[in-house]
Amino acid sequence: MKFNRRTHTCGELREENIGEKVILNGWVDNRRDLGGVIFVDLRDRYGITQIVFEPHYNVESHKEGSALRSEFVVAVEGTVRKRPDNTENLSIPTGLIDVMVDKIIILNEAKTPPFPIQKSENVNEDIRLEYRYLDLRSEKMQKNLIMRSKMYNTVRNYFNDNGFLEIETPYLMKSTPEGARDFLVPSRIHRGKFYALPQSPQTYKQLLMVSGFDKYFQIVKCFRDEDLRADRQPEFTQIDIEMSFVDQEDIFQMVEGLMVKLYKETKNSEIETPIRRMDFHEAMEKYGSDKPDLRFNLEMKTLNHVFENSEFRVFKDAIESKGIISGLVAEGCGDYTRNQLDVITNFVKQLGAGGLIWMRVTEDGLDAPVAKFMTDDEKQGIIDNLGAKPGDLLFIISGPKMKSLSIMGFLRLEMAKRLNLIKPDTKPSLLWVTNFPLLEWDEDTKRFYAMHHPFTSPNLDEVDKLETDPGSVNARAYDLVLNGNEIAGGSIRIHNSELQSRMFDALGVSKEEAETKFGFLMNAFKYGAPPHGGIAFGFDRLAMLFAGEDSIRDVIAFPKTSSASSLMDDSPSFVDEEQLKELFIKIR
Ligand code: AMO
Repeated sequence: MKFNRRTHTCGELREENIGEKVILNGWVDNRRDLGGVIFVDLRDRYGITQIVFEPHYNVESHKEGSALRSEFVVAVEGTVRKRPDNTENLSIPTGLIDVMVDKIIILNEAKTPPFPIQKSENVNEDIRLEYRYLDLRSEKMQKNLIMRSKMYNTVRNYFNDNGFLEIETPYLMKSTPEGARDFLVPSRIHRGKFYALPQSPQTYKQLLMVSGFDKYFQIVKCFRDEDLRADRQPEFTQIDIEMSFVDQEDIFQMVEGLMVKLYKETKNSEIETPIRRMDFHEAMEKYGSDKPDLRFNLEMKTLNHVFENSEFRVFKDAIESKGIISGLVAEGCGDYTRNQLDVITNFVKQLGAGGLIWMRVTEDGLDAPVAKFMTDDEKQGIIDNLGAKPGDLLFIISGPKMKSLSIMGFLRLEMAKRLNLIKPDTKPSLLWVTNFPLLEWDEDTKRFYAMHHPFTSPNLDEVDKLETDPGSVNARAYDLVLNGNEIAGGSIRIHNSELQSRMFDALGVSKEEAETKFGFLMNAFKYGAPPHGGIAFGFDRLAMLFAGEDSIRDVIAFPKTSSASSLMDDSPSFVDEEQLKELFIKIR
């Protein structure tokens, strides 16, 4: 079959082309037969052009036009004409013209697709993922992936302009636990040994600093075997950054410059810099989250001081056990029914709360089942501290500090939804969250874990507490938050092997374990490691937010489902016994 190469794309022709002979290649988006005249929307990734088959114009091509079906691939030769008056389509850039077909070649026929390509919103996502190559033909997915590609370009240009080097790091590496579970790759050559896929290039980028590549970046795949959610994939992409001889301020400045450029070039919009900052502890107390959504206010208030002498068992316990009593006002929700309140109570109970205290604010004070356990001063204290007025509804959650704050944070988000506080035109809300705790206590295993990763530097004026009160030490760590999503996280690193080994002690990692797992890094630090720090963006999350999507799957060409499988090629899959034998593996 002779292949007629296109002279133009399907998004290109305009009024100035009227009268020209052109060739277009593309897919049949749809075909309409209106009383013998056949109209076809011909589609490629650049757009749609209407092509017209008229029996009076060309009998041969009209006959072939009648045989066209959705998703056939064709080459058409024809003449551009001005669309007849009142048939223009101003919603597409090519809508003032169409192409009268002189000749058509069907390059490939197509089976009827399992779902209509352009109307896949209501199609089960599993079907879209099974036929991902078809789903990717839709306008939405094409737009998202084109935007994503532009974003790569912006990122690369930005770092290039700022003197960064893009350096690749291995995908087959030593298993160095970073927080999530590793994906392991068995070695055929080294019997019984495994590589791990990197959870991030963290150790490599730090080694590159030791090597003197003082400004590094990479757009890189990372792999984590963790429970999946709408914003998590087992393999995802980071914009990974590391710099030497810098402090937190330098990292912030570099990242803010990138955000300005990304907003400008992707969304043609401006953002305000410097980006607002908030201490982790403040974020938790006021918003119940280390990634607060500040597109709306709805601030939580700590009420411990109101109940210092309370006889109410629940509050007394919270105060005695150094817990927290946190309150929230739902403005104008005083008319919530008992049923609605039960639903909200169940919502927090499912998150692990012991219970939820609610109170209606009336002209006469507080109306609630628990009001009888409170003194008048306490009731007034609640109203004053929460700034409540008649008609409002109040919520109080008390218990262990971080857990209670975080549950209240979820309730805050839930109420924002119910009260419709996030309007579609709300400006994006960017926020640096700083000063994270260095360590996190795990009740199950009775030990500390690094909140960020074990290479994160403690605040220098708190290093002394590393042995005496490790739980109270804060870190030179920071996250960048966009509309309540953590889009990036990083830290200034420990660059001294003595401090690194004190950190391992605090984490309960023995000298031997540290040596086997991280010896190579600690050794490298003995050969002149510069002070350094960095950050990594979750690129998929950033693209998801820029595209206005709710799931990162909508900005990834070939994502996994929430149970970590690929429905298109049916992976993971069983492998041949021979393959397993070669790897010395037996399935238990
Ligand atoms: P962190 O673990 O915070 O830091 O990861 C950086 C960012 O990556 C994104 N992210 C994910 N995106 C999709 N799916 C996942 N499973 C997933 N996990 C994380 C988040 C997160 O903010 N090496 C450090 C960075 C550093 O210290 O420089 C790191 O990986 O948006």
